[in-house]
Amino acid sequence: SSVGIIGVPFSKGQKRGGVEHAPMLLRKAGLVEKIEEMGYNVADLGDLSFGEVKDDTPFQKHVPFPRTVGMACQGLAQVVRQVVCDGRTCITIGGDHSLAIGSVSGHAMARPNLGVIWVDAHADINTPLTSPSGNLHGQPLAFLLQELTSKVPAVPGLSWVSPCLTVQDIVYIGLRDIDPGEHYILKNYGMQYFSMRHVDRLGIRKVMEMSLEFLNPRGRRPIHLSYDIDAFDPSLAPATGTPVLGGLTYREGLYIAEEVHNSGCLSAMDLVEVNPLLGASTDAVNATVQLGLEVVLSCLGRAREGSYSLGYTLP
Ligand code: ARG
Ligand code: MN
Ligand code: MN
Ligand code: MN
Repeated sequence: SSVGIIGVPFSKGQKRGGVEHAPMLLRKAGLVEKIEEMGYNVADLGDLSFGEVKDDTPFQKHVPFPRTVGMACQGLAQVVRQVVCDGRTCITIGGDHSLAIGSVSGHAMARPNLGVIWVDAHADINTPLTSPSGNLHGQPLAFLLQELTSKVPAVPGLSWVSPCLTVQDIVYIGLRDIDPGEHYILKNYGMQYFSMRHVDRLGIRKVMEMSLEFLNPRGRRPIHLSYDIDAFDPSLAPATGTPVLGGLTYREGLYIAEEVHNSGCLSAMDLVEVNPLLGASTDAVNATVQLGLEVVLSCLGRAREGSYSLGYTLP
């Protein structure tokens, strides 16, 4: 089987620099080679570059870089669409989470019936009008959801986005920092979510069983996994822009990835929000990058119990 890897050194969905360096660091950690070692045919699409947008004034003085984000996502969508159409599992390495506007849109062009698993401390479903920060990395799902069309104003640069998801197509895991407008949407639009409290109550095994059953009861639906590294506890993933205490353990975080792999339905994934400029030390940065790498490998079938390849015999 085959995968395509897209680096997205993009950071304009939020105001802190550094998250654009993550693709380079994941590559340095051996991303491509390790996936090849697992037996995959890898098409490395390289790191995308993005045109500069001049005079990209904030939307309503509140939402920064709308055209820059819109243009980058539009370009990314085309690349993701092509990778998926070529029959590859598409791996997008961010970059900040605003890029999911592009990756999910592009994935949906190729696989209109996809379902999304959003692993994150945050719900990333603020509209430009509910967002306390204005940052677009906290808003991607608002632009992708059909039910919110009337609540999302026309933002310059993002008019190309056609909402390709309904609330039935998303499940969240790991939430623990939700803004009031987001909580209203989660509750009143009947969204399926497992907050950290649900993880505590049910255990990660049940959470994954219920998530996959909700999204994919027949086990035939393409899955888009959007994995924000800040879903992990900050003790494990300190190098990120918006860390929140009380996150996933190492084992829970990898278990999610393993179960998505075991579903056999992973079609595209994002790994986002690793910010190497925000670690307190080199060790902190390396740990965060390494964790991101392990998430990707687990999604592709690396098993904690070990493995041997077909035809192996004891010497
Ligand atoms: N909810 C906050 C906001 O809207 C934080 C979002 C953080 N998002 C992320 N992808 N890390 O700004
Ligand atoms: Mn987050
Ligand atoms: Mn996020
Ligand atoms: Mn396998």
